[in-house]
Amino acid sequence: MSALPSDIQSDPVAPAELTAIHPADTAEGVAQWWRSSVIYQVYPRSFRDFDGDGNGDLAGVAAELDQLAELGVDAVWLSPFYPSPQRDGGYDVSDYCDVDPIFGTLNTFDHVVERARELGIRVIVDLVPNHCSEEHSLFRAALAAGPGSPERALFVFRDGKGADGAEPPNNWQSHFGGPAWTRVVEPDGTPGQWYLHLFDSSQPDFNWDNPAVHEEFERILRFWLDRGVAGFRVDVAHSLVKKDGLPDWHGRPDGVGTEDYPGHLAPMFGQPALHDIYRRWREVLAEYGEDRVLCAEASIDPLDRLVNWVRPDQMHQTFNFAFLSCPWDAAKYRTVIEESLRAFDSVGAPTTWVLSNHDVPRHATRLGVEGVPARPGDGLGPEDQQPNLQLGQVRARAASLMMLGLPGVVYLYQGEELGLPDHTMMPHSFRQDPTYRRTAGARLGRDGSRVPLPWNSAAAAAGFSRSGTTWLPQPAGWDEFARDRQRHDASSTLSLYTAALELRRKKDLGHGSLSWLSDYDDTACLAFVNRDVLVMVNMGDTDVRLPRSEVLLTSAAGAVADGCLRPGHGVWVRLM
Ligand code: GLC
Repeated sequence: MSALPSDIQSDPVAPAELTAIHPADTAEGVAQWWRSSVIYQVYPRSFRDFDGDGNGDLAGVAAELDQLAELGVDAVWLSPFYPSPQRDGGYDVSDYCDVDPIFGTLNTFDHVVERARELGIRVIVDLVPNHCSEEHSLFRAALAAGPGSPERALFVFRDGKGADGAEPPNNWQSHFGGPAWTRVVEPDGTPGQWYLHLFDSSQPDFNWDNPAVHEEFERILRFWLDRGVAGFRVDVAHSLVKKDGLPDWHGRPDGVGTEDYPGHLAPMFGQPALHDIYRRWREVLAEYGEDRVLCAEASIDPLDRLVNWVRPDQMHQTFNFAFLSCPWDAAKYRTVIEESLRAFDSVGAPTTWVLSNHDVPRHATRLGVEGVPARPGDGLGPEDQQPNLQLGQVRARAASLMMLGLPGVVYLYQGEELGLPDHTMMPHSFRQDPTYRRTAGARLGRDGSRVPLPWNSAAAAAGFSRSGTTWLPQPAGWDEFARDRQRHDASSTLSLYTAALELRRKKDLGHGSLSWLSDYDDTACLAFVNRDVLVMVNMGDTDVRLPRSEVLLTSAAGAVADGCLRPGHGVWVRLM
């Protein structure tokens, strides 16, 4: 363990003087697992390859679930494993009710759920309702049926502008670069209509004005609920409904934080009709009991608009990307934590916390970049200034300790418990993210954070696959991060996460309260109290004196010296 059980003799602090800005959960809240849980994201293609083809699979997930139980997570969220041409890492689904052969079969999926149940872990699956794959049978039928057909009405087809319809119907841009429209060739061979795709051209958007689309997704929800899933992470949950008439948009392409158009709602974001969809889904989930959850992946700014989607009759949770994108700055973290808790408290929803996922550089890499990253929000490549890995590791461990001390729900991304950085030297020839292709390399995309995990330092491909093959290359030195090396090393990142999760559970921090320790308000040190734990992270350049306390857990050996918390480090202590 990284714990440093020693006493700090210094000025006492009386917890009674603290004012909670976030009260502890009520008895009703305590009974709801999804208000306090630690949810672990599995990106199946990179988790563990059981059959040796270089792609992770569901048999690999089932085989390693006991490792996740040992870590102490409450649930896993599986990123898509459905049949897919993998043009966007499986978020291009060609059949919502099956398993892609590279990942296994429906039987393997059932085995994952069964094994997870034995270990007390719930399984959440990814639902991708904004768009499917161009290979989905419904989209193929729409192409074949031609303009004006009921098949086309399941998608967003429009005639083009200009005399011969050669210009896209509006000016919308794809999130991955380039226009959000692609023109089709009609069955008779002539240039025809355009279809909308907010992402890659291989991902046609569904038409959520059409009741048939609603029915299809209710069927899909029931299919997975019947197989025992605990809920759904809903992909791009804010975009399903588009504004009537599809008006041009002159704000930022991602529609978020639109300084040019303050207060303006982008026509493809957060439209009011979404509320009815999620109300209906909540009813469907309730038919299966009160413990099934919906978590929105919704990039809506600001927080008080985002919380519109989490209500007692709609989504249970939504990801908190404001927290994820916060720079290494104590005052900024203080603001985002406080604003998040206040905003989610105001609608009776739990606050969620996340530092890494498959769409952003891992926090061990992000926090090792001084100043403004070369490519904000995107992966780093061999031509970019390389992150300071040691600095990134130290800060990442402190940031994780901070996150795990917060009340609410924590999302972990596979491999962060091993302290993994991104592969920032990946040769471009391996890149698969459509962003790279669609921007002609100007944006590198997200492959660097999706590298197959290291399990065994002595084995080929660091134990990811017995054949030694990996669908994305692992960086040099990957074996040093392998789980087998870290499991019995008290100073490892894995041991830190395991100890923090155990203490979090024991002290019930997830349902706890939060008060700032005001003595530190003006310093570069973040300090808050949850239950009887004081969490401190020193984001400044100088040592910070700790109050009189018993040290429970430190982010690394040497984090505390002479009664002080060293720069870049974090600590959990019990006030005395
Ligand atoms: C979400 C997913 C991302 C995917 C996109 C389109 O943001 O997390 O990986 O590319 O949706 O489905």
